[in-house]
Amino acid sequence: MCGILGYTGHRESAEILLNGLEKLEYRGYDSAGLAVNDGENINVIKNKGRIKSLREKINNNLPGTCGIGHTRWATHGEPSDTNAHPLWSDDKSVVAVHNGIVENYKELKSFLGENGYKFYSQTDTEAAVKLLDYFYKRTKSPLNAITEAIKKIEGSYCFVILFKDFPDEVWGVRKDLPLIAGQGKDESFLASDVSAILQDTRQVYYLDNFEIVRLKKNDVRFFDETGHAKYKKLSTVTWDSQAAERGGFEHFMMKEIHEQARAVKDTFRSVFKNGEFDLSECNLDDESIRKISQIYVIACGSAYHAGYAAQYILEDLTGIPVRIELASEFRYRKMPLDKSALAIIISQSGETADTLAAMRLAKNHGIKTLAIVNVVGSTIAREADSVFYTLAGPEIAVATTKAYSSQLIACYILAVQFARAKNMIDEAKYKYFIDEIQKLPGKIDEILDEKERIRELAEKFVDSQNAFYLGRNIDYAVAMEGSLKMKEISYVHSEAIAAGEMKHGPISLIERGMLVTGIMTQKNLLPKIASNMLEAKSRGAFLLCIMMRGSEVLKDEADFVFQIPETEELFAATLAVIPLQLLGYYVAVARKLDVDKPRNLAKSVTVE
Ligand code: AGP
Ligand code: GLU
Repeated sequence: MCGILGYTGHRESAEILLNGLEKLEYRGYDSAGLAVNDGENINVIKNKGRIKSLREKINNNLPGTCGIGHTRWATHGEPSDTNAHPLWSDDKSVVAVHNGIVENYKELKSFLGENGYKFYSQTDTEAAVKLLDYFYKRTKSPLNAITEAIKKIEGSYCFVILFKDFPDEVWGVRKDLPLIAGQGKDESFLASDVSAILQDTRQVYYLDNFEIVRLKKNDVRFFDETGHAKYKKLSTVTWDSQAAERGGFEHFMMKEIHEQARAVKDTFRSVFKNGEFDLSECNLDDESIRKISQIYVIACGSAYHAGYAAQYILEDLTGIPVRIELASEFRYRKMPLDKSALAIIISQSGETADTLAAMRLAKNHGIKTLAIVNVVGSTIAREADSVFYTLAGPEIAVATTKAYSSQLIACYILAVQFARAKNMIDEAKYKYFIDEIQKLPGKIDEILDEKERIRELAEKFVDSQNAFYLGRNIDYAVAMEGSLKMKEISYVHSEAIAAGEMKHGPISLIERGMLVTGIMTQKNLLPKIASNMLEAKSRGAFLLCIMMRGSEVLKDEADFVFQIPETEELFAATLAVIPLQLLGYYVAVARKLDVDKPRNLAKSVTVE
C-alpha cells in the first residue's frame, strides 16, 4: 500500500532512491529499505522507522547504479527491521519490494516449504519473493520467473525485483496497485507514485494489470502476462508535484473517498477463503463464537459510528445482545460486565488513548478483546487478544473515509459469520450475504460517478450555519457519520438526530432554508422517517433524501433526491455514507477550508 521505487542508470542509485522515497513520506509508512546491485552482489539496508534513519544507516555505503527502494505500510507482520522490505531469497539472487497483499501466502509458504524453503520474516511478501526464486532457479530467466509466479500469486500487488545475475536490470509487475515506468536520459525509473520521479522525468508509461516491465538504462520494455513483448505509449505528466502526491485529486480526502471500493475489497478478501469467511486468525472458531453471551463494541468518533451500525446488524443477525460504548465513557463507568462477553474494539490508528484505556479495562475484567484496527503493530493491535485488520492502507486526511468503510465491512463479516456459527441463517442466506457484500465496491463506484450532483448541491449551502441529519436504526448510525463529516471539515454546526427524537426538542432549531438530510434505506421505517422529514419541511427546511433506487417515498416533497444502488438493507450504510462524505467535502471546498487538516483536529488522538 505504500511506496515503491526502482532505478537503473548512470548515477549512484542509493541517493536517487532515498530522495524518491522522501517524496513518498507524506503517505505514511512504518519502515523503509533499499537494495542495490554493486555489479557482483545485491546489498540490502533497511530499518523500521524513518527514511532519515535509513539514510544515516546507509551513510553513502551502498554503491551501485541499479537498485530498488520501499516504504512499508505493514499488513502482515509487525513493523520491524526484519519485516521491512526489500526481502530476499536465501542466496540473495532474487531481491524484491512489494506493495499490497499476497492473499494466498500461507498456501505458497507450504508449497515452498515442501521444496526446502525456509522463512525468516512474518510477511506475506516473502512467500512471493521465494516463489520468484523457485521459478528463477528453474528457468534462469527473470521474465519466465515472473510470468510463472504471477500465475500462482493471488491478491493485489506491485512487485519491483532485482535479479543478481542481471546487474543492470530492474523488473516490475502489477495487479490492482499502481506502477509507473519513467524514461530519463541514460536512466530509467519505476515508481508506485509519479510524484517520486517527477524531479527526474515527466516521460512515463502507466502499467496495466499483469503487465511486466524490464528497465535498462536506455531501454524500457513491456511484456504481457504470457511473456510476449508489448508496445506501450509514452505519456507526459503535466501535474505539479503536489497534485501528483494526491493522485491528481485536489485533496487527500477526495483521493481516499475514491479508494474506498479498493479498501473494502481488500478487507473482504483478506478473510474470504474458498467461498466462506475464515476468522481463524481472529481466534474465532464456531465453538468460541457460540459461547459469546454479550458483545460490547467500544470506539471513538467515526469508529464509534461504524460500531453503532454494527450494533444493529449484529443483534439482527446473531441474536446476541450488543452494547455500543463510547470509549471515553466506558472507561469511567461502573457497569456490571459480563465475563463471557466479547469486546470489539474499533480504531483506525490503533493508538487512540481512550479506546486503548477502555480495551485494557475490558481485559482486566477478563473479557476477550477483538480489535478491528487499520495500523498493523499499533498498540491496540498488540494488546488485543486478537485482531481483524482492515486493509484500508494509510489514511492521510484527518476526516476518515476509507478506514470507516473498511471497519463497516469487517463488522458485516463478523455479523454474518457469527450468524452462521449460531445457526441463525442457513447456507443460502449465508451465500446471499456474501454476494451482497461482494457487490458493494462496484456500487460505491457507481455513486462516485454522480459526485458532480452533490457538488452542485453543496454550493447552495456554502453559507449554512446549521444542518440536521435524520435517520432511524442503521440510518441513524449513518446520520451520525454524515453529520461528523460535515462539522469536522466544513465547520457547519450539524447534528445527527434519531428521527423519532426530533419532536422532543431539536425541531425548535429548524429555520427556513435549513438543510435537513434524511437517510432512508430501511424499508420498514420509511413511513416513519418520511413523517419526520415532512415535519421539518413544514417548518421551512430544505429536504435532501438519500434513498435506495426504486423507492418512491417523498419523491415529490423532497427538494433533492440522491438515489443509491439497491443493496441488502443491513449493508446500506456503506453506500448511504458516500453522498454524505461528498457533501461535507464539497461544502468545505466551497468555503475554501483546509479539508485535509481541519482546525483543532489531529489524525490520531493519543491524549485523553
Ligand atoms: C473521523 O473523521 C475523526 N477524525 C475521528 O472521529 C476518529 O474517527 C476518532 O478520533 C477515532 O480514531 P481511531 O479510529 O484512530 O481510533
Ligand atoms: N503486505 C506487505 C507487508 O506487510 C506489503 C505492505 C505494503 O504494501 O507496504 O509487508
